Amino acid sequence: MAKRKIVKFGDDILRKKCRDVTDFDDRLWVLLDDMYETMTAANGVGLAAPQVGILKRAVVIDVGEGRIELINPVITMAKGKQREKEGCLSSPDLWGYVERPAKVKVTAKNRYGKEIKLEGTDLLARAFCHEIDHLNGIIFTDIADEMVEGDAD
Ligand code: CO
Repeated sequence: MAKRKIVKFGDDILRKKCRDVTDFDDRLWVLLDDMYETMTAANGVGLAAPQVGILKRAVVIDVGEGRIELINPVITMAKGKQREKEGCLSSPDLWGYVERPAKVKVTAKNRYGKEIKLEGTDLLARAFCHEIDHLNGIIFTDIADEMVEGDAD
């Protein structure tokens, strides 16, 4: 595994729509392993492939409940509302309040191409939405209703 450089806000690559992953091979596995290492080294809870400069629909998440990998994820259900302070590893000094669903269901592939279905509430639901937004070129500042200065809490 190796840490990769995290692309920062302002880079066009964060504004592009990512392609579906079609090859579930060792190249993908190296990418996922590198993304996880990069995310944990930066104390993040989620990272999307475009944040390391790769325009593929791949996401890693760990909100403290273990590692999650989502390939070609689709949100199949969104319910309720939550509004919390949110940040992004591509903008370490920027925070904002974003309204998200309180609960979401996601269908995706795992690293071997097998279909998986996951459900998240609270922080995990927020992470699913935030990271899947990245795959569509959307960053949280696009949808934040209030920006705040300084670090998280
Ligand atoms: Co982000």
